[in-house]
Amino acid sequence: MPVVVDPDPMVVESLLASMPAGSHGVESVDRLNAWLAAHSDEYAVVLGPTLTDEESVSTCEALRNAAPTISTVLVRESMDADLLTFAMKAGARDVVLQTDGAAVADAIARAYHLFVALRGPAGAMHMSKVISVFSPKGGVGKTTLSVNLALALTAKGARRVCLVDLDLAFGDVAITMQLFPTHSIEQAIGSEDSMDVEMLDSLLTRHQDSLMVLAAPPHPDTRERVSPRLVSRIIRTLRETFDYIVIDMAPSFDEQVLTALDETDEVVLVATLDVPTLKNVKVAVETFDALHIAKDNRHLVLNRADDEVGINADKVEGILGMSVATQLLSSVDIAAATNAGSPIVVSDPEHQLSIAVRELATRLAGHMVAPPGSERGTEAHAPQGKSEAEARGRLRRRSKS
Ligand SMILES: Nc1ncnc2c1ncn2[C@@H]1O[C@H](COP(=O)(O)OP(=O)(O)O)[C@@H](O)[C@H]1O
Ligand SMILES: [Mg+2]
Repeated sequence: MPVVVDPDPMVVESLLASMPAGSHGVESVDRLNAWLAAHSDEYAVVLGPTLTDEESVSTCEALRNAAPTISTVLVRESMDADLLTFAMKAGARDVVLQTDGAAVADAIARAYHLFVALRGPAGAMHMSKVISVFSPKGGVGKTTLSVNLALALTAKGARRVCLVDLDLAFGDVAITMQLFPTHSIEQAIGSEDSMDVEMLDSLLTRHQDSLMVLAAPPHPDTRERVSPRLVSRIIRTLRETFDYIVIDMAPSFDEQVLTALDETDEVVLVATLDVPTLKNVKVAVETFDALHIAKDNRHLVLNRADDEVGINADKVEGILGMSVATQLLSSVDIAAATNAGSPIVVSDPEHQLSIAVRELATRLAGHMVAPPGSERGTEAHAPQGKSEAEARGRLRRRSKS
């Protein structure tokens, strides 16, 4: 996946926002070289504006010779004819302005097509991440969080995101988003062996820009006909074209949920501050243990965390034996925004709740590669200080062991 080089972490973060999911940031050309040595399938290197002209151009030149299938994209604060000539001679594929996120995204898309053309489709594999939102209780805010999280992950259309309603009996993603789907997962029943991207695409409902929704069936009894094999086939097919797949799960460990967990990279566990919910969440945590779901891939979200009920986040952490990743306050605004058909991360991006959801999205997306021995990796960008490649798939691998 594309890698961006810039010593300034803020610049890296902002460039990553225009790059595909799974892109990485490194702070120096040395670290870039180490990265490339370990990733022979790299197709795009973005050289950030904080690097000097000389450093950028010499890196282009070195890469042109050493790795001709990699496209280099130079990002500069300003551009002049001399620099352009210089860059083109050095073999840069594109030179774009720092302020032009769309041009960065375009350049990477072109790099990808070129790479596929040079190496053949087998040479390039799409990276995607499956994020499942679970709670053993209904009414705790799973759907509200799934919808807002999915919208936050689209990063204003820069990333392809699909929201899957896997609450097969009582799914309400569509109604929550005021969508009127003509198709749902129901039309996929029986296609376990014939499913492909095109077919699945025809079952999706478009919300905004890049958010697509796979709706739950309109009738609860359809659920029994959705086989676990179909669920896993659907998720794998979505992985071929989407950057992120967010799954709003049913509030129980039914066989479809268990199958989806097997295909999941990160699980978000939603809890509220009431004793029955916490009791059930505790059982869910024990089930995750039994399923060998890695602790690093579990993220606890406390919804309505400010409710005055005599239990606070510290107590919850004690009871569940895991730390709270995000606390979301109670606010009529979140319900009102959803009811108005424009979820809060879209209608009021500066709302405290929107900021909290976006931060969670960034954590889950896990952007930065932590340089060894540095503190950066422990920040929100890469919570476990591991590369995304390491984090990816671990949940699935362990759950099968
Ligand atoms: N943080 C919050 N503050 C206020 N209302 C909320 C909050 N989170 C969820 N709600 C409301 O609670 C209700 C249940 O939420 P929902 O997302 O449908 O739960 P679930 O999918 O877990 O059943 C909805 O009416 C929703 O608008
Ligand atoms: Mg729901």
